[in-house]
Amino acid sequence: MKTAASFICALFLVLSSLPAQAASSKGVLIVAFGTSMASAMPSFDAIDKAYKAAYRGQPVVWAYTSDIIRKKLAKEGKTVFSVNQAMNECARLGITDLRVQSLHVTGGEEYSMLQRMLVKNLAKHPGRFEHVWLGKPLLESAQDLDEVAGAVIKDAAKGRKAGEALVLMGHGNDRGPGDLTMRAVAQGFKAKDPLVYVATVEGANGFDAVLPQLRQAGVKTCHLAPLMVVAGDHANNDLAGAEEDSWASQIKKEGMTPVPHLVGLGQLPAVRAVYLRHTRDAKDDLAHPKKSD
Ligand code: CO
Repeated sequence: MKTAASFICALFLVLSSLPAQAASSKGVLIVAFGTSMASAMPSFDAIDKAYKAAYRGQPVVWAYTSDIIRKKLAKEGKTVFSVNQAMNECARLGITDLRVQSLHVTGGEEYSMLQRMLVKNLAKHPGRFEHVWLGKPLLESAQDLDEVAGAVIKDAAKGRKAGEALVLMGHGNDRGPGDLTMRAVAQGFKAKDPLVYVATVEGANGFDAVLPQLRQAGVKTCHLAPLMVVAGDHANNDLAGAEEDSWASQIKKEGMTPVPHLVGLGQLPAVRAVYLRHTRDAKDDLAHPKKSD
């Protein structure tokens, strides 16, 4: 009797400790570069809310790809997962069918890194997930650009009169195809409104090239907004900051009036809709790449 009871007990312990592999369990992992600024959080909060509404009842896990930002937040007692930690957490939650959404604006350096990190994690733990679908970054197709440009121009229009320019600050860098995407993005905006200019903090599409164009167009008032998912450090300092080399200061020096709008892209409902569409339509299953060799 005693042996049978302890056998049943042991069997129960074994069964209850097994991960719930039988039933598929869905979840979402949102991956952003990250921000350490509290004033930038409304964008991430709005995105989080939109995903929790769209994927009701499913866990929505977040990760930041920036180690510097995660370390800074950790010092303030705030823990944010890295991509690896978040994948482990998703597995711990019993998620088998995982939708990963990149909050990057273009498929540049940070997005490529995210892909590599996911693939590396999957290779390290084979069979842990049934599916891992990766959603494309914000600006991948002509439709994306059309919808995002329309939403950004409409949002800026609230305070913008005829003849006033809108300058958007993208991130950019020369490591990856991000700079080329931003050049196409700048053209897309210009096609909708010739007084909208896109330049980047890093990379080949600097603000230097935009300044003479503003002068030539006879612009007197120049609205400024980030073309980034949050209005974080770059928006507050490099774009609208008081330092001499901020875009606002350079515009002022030219005798124009800068009008900053510190709103992150994630605060615009139409932008959130693009991210949600990318998550929903993601076909790239990293757990089962289609080509076998
Ligand atoms: Co940066």
